[in-house]
Amino acid sequence: MRAAVFEQFRGPIEIVEVADPAVAPGEVVVEVLAVGLCRSDYHGWHGTDPDIACPHVGGHEFVGRVVGVGEGVHRVREGERVVAPFVCGCGSCAPCLLGQHQVCRRQQQPGFTRWGAFATYTTVPFADTNAVLVPSEVTDEAAALVGCRVSTAYRGVIERGRLAAGEVLCVHGCGGVGLAAIAFGHAVGAQVVAVDISPDALALAVTLGADLTLDASTIDDVGAALHDLVGGAHVSVDCLGSAVTAGNSILSLRALGRHVQIGLLPTATADLPISRVIRDELELLGVHGLSASRFDQVFAMMAAGQIDPADIITQRLTLADVPTALPAMRAFAQPGVSVVTKM
Ligand SMILES: NC(=O)c1ccc[n+]([C@@H]2O[C@H](COP(=O)([O-])OP(=O)(O)OC[C@H]3O[C@@H](n4cnc5c(N)ncnc54)[C@H](O)[C@@H]3O)[C@@H](O)[C@H]2O)c1
Ligand SMILES: [Zn+2]
Ligand SMILES: [Zn+2]
Repeated sequence: MRAAVFEQFRGPIEIVEVADPAVAPGEVVVEVLAVGLCRSDYHGWHGTDPDIACPHVGGHEFVGRVVGVGEGVHRVREGERVVAPFVCGCGSCAPCLLGQHQVCRRQQQPGFTRWGAFATYTTVPFADTNAVLVPSEVTDEAAALVGCRVSTAYRGVIERGRLAAGEVLCVHGCGGVGLAAIAFGHAVGAQVVAVDISPDALALAVTLGADLTLDASTIDDVGAALHDLVGGAHVSVDCLGSAVTAGNSILSLRALGRHVQIGLLPTATADLPISRVIRDELELLGVHGLSASRFDQVFAMMAAGQIDPADIITQRLTLADVPTALPAMRAFAQPGVSVVTKM
């Protein structure tokens, strides 16, 4: 098969012929139909993900058609169109039995702990648990985004953030995750404030349902500005991943507010305004994708017309574009998300 391989972090990515993946017990092999370029793929290529060993093939936000079914797989059939969460839980450990596959200790992650979907074929581990049938009315490109950023935003805003109608949601960083978070906030009837440093991203945020926007590049104290603007947020999400945006998110909360950390920070620890967390009894909540067992909730909101992942897609690529498009994410030049729709 063809795959976008890098031999070293930050090194060239090349489209090369490699062996097709084996059909291992408990797994399925899928022919990739579409795959998004998530900033986590950029982090992976850049070398900040300790789970990745070179040579490597990224791509974790995909939809595929099942072409091989491993021994012991009972629920998935050849020919089915499936999506999988980027965290594939084992299905049998204590967190998995509680339906919390996203924190499984035996998890596998295609595109991180194993080769991913910037290729003709990839694999879904623990397939009976993680291969989710895609409803026929959902397009390939929309289904791909459910694999990571759309489902992660659902987990952050709806499940972890517990956002309710009439509350204020602040979204810091309006890229793939952030735009999806805005759409979910709008869908539940919250007042949504979008924060970014890119006017193009903010313009897109308005089309997704943001009620107000704030250009962080023009403001010294983003938290104070959000208190002035809306009295502070009930729920605030860091959808970039930096000490600056995480701090801004915490400081934009009103008392008893919930900060949701989705963006991955480049370091294991960060300097955050903890005194504010104590003074205002704030909640700090992490997010690690969404369990496959909850994907039906996201598809139900899509079927009800509450969110359409296609609304956040601004660029459609081929596999041959990945070697240039992935390193180019460094510049944050492209608002919205890029999806490979032709392998
Ligand atoms: N925890 C999880 O489960 C999970 C899942 C998916 C992605 N992620 C992470 O979420 C983050 C976002 O991913 P993405 O693909 O949406 O990224 P993206 O590049 O599409 O979006 C990032 C946005 O942040 C904006 N930005 C940059 N500096 C800013 C600042 N100082 N203030 C406000 N906005 C700023 C950019 O202009 C851009 O619009 C990444 O760190 C990614 O690795 C985590
Ligand atoms: Zn991702
Ligand atoms: Zn498990």
